[in-house]
Amino acid sequence: MKHLISCDQIKKEDLLSLLTLTDKIKNNPVFYTETLKNKVIATLFYEPSTRTRLSFSAAAVRLGASLINTENANENSSATKGETLEDTIRIVQGYADAIILRHPDDEAAQRAVQVATIPIINAGSGGKEHPSQGLLDLYTINTYKKRLDNLKIAIIGDLKYGRTIHSLLKLLTLFDGIEIHALSVKELELPPLFENLLKKRNAKYTKHTTLNTLPKDVDIIYQTRIQKERLQNEGIQASAASFIIDKKQFDTFSADTYLMHPLPRIEEMNSDIDNDPRAIFFSQAHNGMYVRMAVLYQCLCENK
Ligand code: CP
Repeated sequence: MKHLISCDQIKKEDLLSLLTLTDKIKNNPVFYTETLKNKVIATLFYEPSTRTRLSFSAAAVRLGASLINTENANENSSATKGETLEDTIRIVQGYADAIILRHPDDEAAQRAVQVATIPIINAGSGGKEHPSQGLLDLYTINTYKKRLDNLKIAIIGDLKYGRTIHSLLKLLTLFDGIEIHALSVKELELPPLFENLLKKRNAKYTKHTTLNTLPKDVDIIYQTRIQKERLQNEGIQASAASFIIDKKQFDTFSADTYLMHPLPRIEEMNSDIDNDPRAIFFSQAHNGMYVRMAVLYQCLCENK
């Protein structure tokens, strides 16, 4: 892997190799502490982030790299003076060995890679993609379910602008026997592009309008937040979460149903479920650091 731009670029064998590398790193992190010695990683975040920025930063430091960053590039970089993303990339690549980029433009990572001479890692581009989140989600599912084929997954919330959903579906459908149960309000349904992808890759797809009709034996419930910032940008009235999962609701599902969420959670998930061993969203977020160590390793060490 030279860059990580989109899950479209990831083949099944590459994904499995990244999951294996993640396991190796997680089981023996000390072995990797000098992997990126003398490398400098730049984080360029034009949108807020807790998990992605800090876990990529921790991943880089744990591999021995140094960091330079603009955590609020929209306000603290020369973007405020009108500098283009392309020029910023041209400049920062003179200072760093890789750039981790989060940006509100759907095509930002693609634009960056057109001018880049160093690896670009997409840390979230608009409502379109969040590939490293997709990778850590697959890693987490495989860790808990011990398989990636024959999975029944409920996706809930903002399926239109939820970039984590889009990346997750692109990766999940590399596997056989995938069944997707989609629950959202009408305005936030899965875009036709993804419905077509599910069809093309022979995944079973069912739409729901209420939590009550979801199969009680789904392997994973993947809850998401309403992306209010993107609704406002599109001039759509932001709405509160319509499908709230609490302990009572979660207890109607199987003992083997795990609950995931890319986080942050807002009103769509009640904290009374946090101590349920099937609620794995904090573990999911922690896995992100190891998966991102594997991504940095592959982008910087396997393409010399
Ligand atoms: N899941 C995720 O992307 O979280 P952050 O926005 O905090 O990075």
